Amino acid sequence: MIAIGSDHGGYALKCELVKHLTEQGVELTDCGCNGETADYPDIAERVCAKVTNGECEKAILICGTGIGISMSANKIKGIRAALCTDEYMAEFTRRHNDANVLCMGGRVVGGGLACGIADVFLSTDFEGGRHAVRVEKMMKLEGK
Ligand code: RB5
Repeated sequence: MIAIGSDHGGYALKCELVKHLTEQGVELTDCGCNGETADYPDIAERVCAKVTNGECEKAILICGTGIGISMSANKIKGIRAALCTDEYMAEFTRRHNDANVLCMGGRVVGGGLACGIADVFLSTDFEGGRHAVRVEKMMKLEGK
């Protein structure tokens, strides 16, 4: 199960992603917004809670630039949110950083690219090994 959410700046792209991922057979929990004005920290909090409580394995967050929502998500304990603008970033943030939240900018990436980024993010495994040591060190920075 994948959680997805956006503010108003990411709403149109979220709709495209929901359609694409549903067609791919991905099970989604859509946490809003529904087109109304929404504050990106509220959406980040709502969506990330689904990951930290174990209800969802990963999540996708979208705002206008992807920046505010990724900054917000990375304040939450246990979240490793990656703002991606291409498929290479999506692949390596999964392989090396074990990112559990994908962030994108609805005013930055087009629908076709965003769908490709999401597909790569959701289908790429973490490599572990030396990267696990680094991710562990990264998580120890929480609360410092
Ligand atoms: C909302 O207009 C916009 O500020 C927001 O979507 C995002 O880009 C913030 O980082």
